[in-house]
Parts: sequence; structure tokens; C-alpha cells
Amino acid sequence: MYLEIKDLTVLYDRAMVLNGVSLTVGKGEFVSLVGPNGAGKTTLLRAIAGLVKWEKDTLKGTRAGRITLEGSVKFDGEEVTNLPAHEIVRRGLILCPERGRPFREMTVLDNLRAGAFGCKDKKVVKENLERVYHLFPRLKERENQISGTLSGGERFMLTIGRAMMSQPKLFMIDEPSVGLAPKVKEDLFARVKEIYEQGSTILMTEQDVSFAFDLAGRNYVISKGHLVGEGTAEDLLADESLRKTYLGL
Ligand SMILES: Nc1ncnc2c1ncn2[C@@H]1O[C@H](COP(=O)(O)OP(=O)(O)OP(=O)(O)O)[C@@H](O)[C@H]1O
Ligand SMILES: [Mg+2]
Repeated sequence: MYLEIKDLTVLYDRAMVLNGVSLTVGKGEFVSLVGPNGAGKTTLLRAIAGLVKWEKDTLKGTRAGRITLEGSVKFDGEEVTNLPAHEIVRRGLILCPERGRPFREMTVLDNLRAGAFGCKDKKVVKENLERVYHLFPRLKERENQISGTLSGGERFMLTIGRAMMSQPKLFMIDEPSVGLAPKVKEDLFARVKEIYEQGSTILMTEQDVSFAFDLAGRNYVISKGHLVGEGTAEDLLADESLRKTYLGL
């Protein structure tokens, strides 16, 4: 398996946010993780990206710092659980954070260039920039605008674009549809689909079950830090109790 997570457990103080989560993503697969507010979706992606470990290390000794992180994350055959976050980025595991968080004081173009910081080949950077602009013409139009003044939808496009600049091997997208107007959501849906069809491997979290199920080939359902279901949209929708209790359908 490309990404293999085994028994991942995260506790903040004594609150168990992830409870022995195991999941896999194959190369070229589009996998979704759906669940309600506070289920642990963002925490799972942040743990994979090395950010929970970073938080644990930086907050050590403070009252907020009682964080427990257990289990294993393997990527492309290599254990990455205990690597620092920048090493995980270098291996191509890229997180596109919730609600889009570009560097607000920088222009759109500088944000995109910042995404390519690990790439020394100017030609490749230029090609990637063209690819991002082709996918999101709106960003091209606004390349000299200060990012803090973008709309919510544009900000998320920029965050996806910035992540694409770092040539992800596995692209983790955290709740792309949250807070977007239906029209913007629809457009973003098409863009995410296009990114996948260009040959990416994607792990995406969502609260919007239909947004997730229409994109992903396989899905996990998470509730209160536990995985409660796994399968194709068809499998999951056929399970009545799952549908009622966890998918809100
Ligand atoms: N750094 C932290 N310190 C303490 N508790 C945290 C921390 N990060 C997350 N939590 C708690 O962990 C739980 C899961 O949060 P998480 O952000 O992973 O949920 P989520 O599924 O992404 O929800 P949403 O759909 O609202 O984004 C929440 O109860 C949250 O308050
Ligand atoms: Mg979240």
C-alpha cells in the first residue's frame, strides 16, 4: 500500500480524538474520509503530515502540551511517523489545510512560488505554475493581489494551487467544500476531479457526504475518533443503519 496507517491514536490531555484508526490509500486511488464536526478528520490529516508530532514537541512541558501520539504511518514503504513535518513534505505528502490558509500578506503569485520552495528547477516551477493557472484562471487574473483580500473560494483555490506547486505524491485535502456557495462548490468539485484525473493520489476529508462519494472510489466513515465504515459509496449507502446513524441520510 502507498499510504498505510495502523492503530493511530491521538489524545489531547485525556480526550481521545483518534482511537486506533487504521486505513490505507493505494497509489492512484481517491479515498475520502467523511464524518461530522469534531469527528477527528483534521487531526488525522495533521497527524499524517507530522503536525501533531510538531505540536507535541513544541508544546512539551506546557499545560496544553499533554499530547499522546501512537501508532504508525508508512508512506511508500517507509515509516514516516516520527519524521519532522518538513521531511514529510519532502517525501511528497502534502496537506491542503481546511478553509485555505495562504500567507495572507503575500501576493497570489508569491504564495504559489512559496509552494515550490523545494524545487530548484526553474523550468519545472514554471510548468507547474502554468498548470495551476490553467486549472484556476481566476488566480492568474489575480496574481498580484494580496492574498488576505481574496474571497473564501479563491483562498481555497490558492491553497490547493500552492500545494500543487510542491508536486504532491499524495495530496491530502481537508474539507474543500466547507463554507462555499453552491456554485463555487460545484466549480471546485470539477477542479478536484481534474487534479485527480491528471494522475494524483488523493485522501480528502468532507462533511458533505455526496461531495465526497461522487469523487472518491473508496470511503471511510469516522465518528468520535473511530472508523465506523469503509467501502464504495454503493456499499455504504446500502447499509441502512450506517446511513441513518452516521451519514445523516
Ligand atoms: N490542538 C488541540 N488541542 C485540543 N483539542 C484538540 C486539538 N485539535 C483538535 N482537538 C479536538 O479534537 C476533536 C477533533 O477535532 P478535528 O479538528 O480533528 O475534527 P474534524 O473532524 O476535523 O471536525 P470539523 O469537521 O469541524 O473540521 C475536537 O473535539 C477538537 O476540539
Ligand atoms: Mg476539520
